[in-house]
Amino acid sequence: MPDACRLILALDVETKEEALALARPLAGNLVWVKLGLQLFTRHGPSIVDEFHALGFKVFLDLKLHDIPNTVASAIKSLKGRPCSLLTLHACGGPEMLSRAVEAARESIPDCQLLAVTVLTSMDQAQLTAVGITRTPEEQVCVLGRLAIQSGVHGLVCSPLELPMLRKELGTQPVLVTPGIRYPDAKGDDQNRVMTPAQAAASGASFIVVGRPILKATDPSAQTLKIRREIGEVK
Ligand code: C5P
Repeated sequence: MPDACRLILALDVETKEEALALARPLAGNLVWVKLGLQLFTRHGPSIVDEFHALGFKVFLDLKLHDIPNTVASAIKSLKGRPCSLLTLHACGGPEMLSRAVEAARESIPDCQLLAVTVLTSMDQAQLTAVGITRTPEEQVCVLGRLAIQSGVHGLVCSPLELPMLRKELGTQPVLVTPGIRYPDAKGDDQNRVMTPAQAAASGASFIVVGRPILKATDPSAQTLKIRREIGEVK
């Protein structure tokens, strides 16, 4: 793989105050945080500046999906915001993807775009219901290829899809994976999981971890443990 794998902490909480309280003690020990739609719609785009000011790189998980002009305009509205990763849906199609790439190059040139292929909430029955007869894996490959060919930098994928996507797309694309758990974890909604070390060895560029850090007795120690396991720090 080109670079060591890196850890992104998913700040899946209701308010900025809660997110800041969780992230502040980790500053210096953690580089990347993920801010999602919930915090973005509650507090607005300036939330990106606030986390950047604390020293974090920001992954803005907005999963944009609309007509090409609207997606490009939304990206242009992020002009000057210090976000380093931004998500959009690959199923928006080639025109939407390439217009997004163009808009990002112009307005947020230091930000890499990541495409979501098939949401893990979509199983075969859900796909069939929206008229897609391919298997989820086939659909991930079709949309993954399309996104990369359209100039998108990388993909968000399940850890179990990493070997298939590396084989299909090579070492260049950024592959970001949630669904990270230790074998002893129990009682939440992640089913198809890998440990941090397994995901790194399978080709992840970044792993996104939320609850295993947020609910740990010592989130700082857990952060460092994971970063060591994936080779981000010694
Ligand atoms: O708490 P946990 O480690 O499961 O958090 C994983 C993060 O990755 C959450 O922000 C979740 O929304 C996100 N995610 C996911 N599965 C996907 C896509 C995103 O768990 N397929």
